[in-house]
Amino acid sequence: MNVRLQAYRESAEYIRRRLPKIPKTAVVLGSGLGPLAESLRERATLSYGEIPHFPVSTAPSHKGRLHGGRLGEATCLMLEGRFHYYEGYSFEQVSCYVPVLKLLGVENLLLTNAAGGISPSLKPGDLMLLCDHIKFFDDSPLRGENWEELGPRFPDMTSAYTPRLRETARRAAAELSIPLSEGVYAYMPGPQYETPAEIRALRILGADAVGMSTVAEVIRAAHCGLSVLAVSCITNMAAGITGAPLTGSEVVQTAEKSVEKMAGLVRKIVNLL
Ligand code: HPA
Repeated sequence: MNVRLQAYRESAEYIRRRLPKIPKTAVVLGSGLGPLAESLRERATLSYGEIPHFPVSTAPSHKGRLHGGRLGEATCLMLEGRFHYYEGYSFEQVSCYVPVLKLLGVENLLLTNAAGGISPSLKPGDLMLLCDHIKFFDDSPLRGENWEELGPRFPDMTSAYTPRLRETARRAAAELSIPLSEGVYAYMPGPQYETPAEIRALRILGADAVGMSTVAEVIRAAHCGLSVLAVSCITNMAAGITGAPLTGSEVVQTAEKSVEKMAGLVRKIVNLL
């Protein structure tokens, strides 16, 4: 068997031994949203370092812990900290936890992230549901040998952001009176923020927000048949829009201010699924 596939199986076996009741939903916490993990009750925690073959998160505010626990009435897994291409990982490594979740029997993947707002209708602190993405970089997490056990050579991306889950998110937001816009996320590899000219180009191409994560995982999830929901916390206006310089600390601080709102929305969604 392929060594990577074997590695996913070994990661999954370790997690299953340590967290015997695997729920159907996993939530991935983006930059500054780590405190959401504190709202988990009856929490059991593994560090990424102890899970065989798991990379280590090096990004600021990404702790690198996998939790299982109760959020309201529902149980879920929470990944506190993800991996990014700009850390030096390949897209395959960035998204390695997705096939592991699939092997564990998880059905729904809820991704959160911090993003820069491009659409003039967005402002810092807003939440945006992703309905699609733009990714122009030639690499893909699926480049190389295809593992048919996980999914097809040429996966369809038409409904990668699962329409049923988006409907659930809209319902959850309406019940909580949380404004939730919907838009297209443009992936940029970072770690430098974009130039104003890149942002003008992305706007012409139809992007509403921009960020450095999420799409590798969405591609992997589409490949192996996991349902996906992704929500961006708009932490800043993208480069050139207000003319203000962009900083990583502004991104984390704004995301932290929105933690309560994101936590409420995620809790509601998980309980509606
Ligand atoms: N660009 C890219 N990634 C981001 C941004 C941004 O403006 N804000 C938060 N993550």
